[in-house]
Amino acid sequence: MNVKVRPATRGDCKEISRMISELAVYEKMPEQVKITHEELERDGFCANPFFECLVAEVPEEHRSKEGEVSTEAFLSPSGSHAHNDESVTSLFLIFPTNHNKHTSTTFRNQPLLFTDSFSQLMSRGFPIVGYALYFYTYSTWKGRSVYLEDLYVMPDFRGKGIGKGLLSKVAEVGKKKQCVRLQLSVLDWNTPSRDFYAAKGAQDITASEGWRSLRFVGQDLDNLANEAPKD
Ligand SMILES: CC(C)(COP(=O)(O)OP(=O)(O)OC[C@H]1O[C@@H](n2cnc3c(N)ncnc32)[C@H](O)[C@@H]1OP(=O)(O)O)[C@@H](O)C(=O)NCCC(=O)NCCS
Repeated sequence: MNVKVRPATRGDCKEISRMISELAVYEKMPEQVKITHEELERDGFCANPFFECLVAEVPEEHRSKEGEVSTEAFLSPSGSHAHNDESVTSLFLIFPTNHNKHTSTTFRNQPLLFTDSFSQLMSRGFPIVGYALYFYTYSTWKGRSVYLEDLYVMPDFRGKGIGKGLLSKVAEVGKKKQCVRLQLSVLDWNTPSRDFYAAKGAQDITASEGWRSLRFVGQDLDNLANEAPKD
């Protein structure tokens, strides 16, 4: 399946919002997500947008009506190949878009392996299967920079080059604007993603330069702002 990487539109914000929540679950902090798709629409699609976003889109012909998958799918017991196995069965499946496809489904008491063709069929409920959200920052040492806030590919679509496509497109967009840096943060325990970025050439500046991430929020931010010198 060819997945297309393109700039997000206002109409993609519901899908982006869904994936922001999925990423937060992956990052073990789902309760931290307060943003709504309306806020994404307001902040990303205004005169001076706060962010830009790229999405990975599934071709039209692989989609069904929003919110469910309704299709015949071939499933095979774990380890066998669906098309060569006599035990293959044909099932009628209806999943809501938020169905967790990684629950332990079984057939004849064996764990089922979702084949690649099955995961392609699953995509019918999801027009957008990945995103990269970024914005511009400025380094007083180096100048124009682009900051990658989120990079996410839905589990069924990983390992197919989509993450690399999104990441390299952000690099291309940044280079076109004369950015000399692409920077991001990744959680310490997220070894798969750290390895992914390292494989693409990212330097770990926490290790080499010792930076810590700091944040003001809530009352602390209010207090700080209230202490500002009056104009
Ligand atoms: C990280 C993520 C975006 C990568 O997307 P993906 O579509 O699975 O990655 P790709 O298929 O494009 O992989 C591209 C390349 O990276 C390599 N790669 C992927 N995962 C890797 C890993 N864990 N370790 C080393 N290399 C890896 C692939 O082998 C491939 O190499 P190639 O270019 O030599 O063929 C995706 O796994 C994801 O969404 N993870 C969960 C969310 C997350 O952690 N996001 C980052 C938050 S900072």
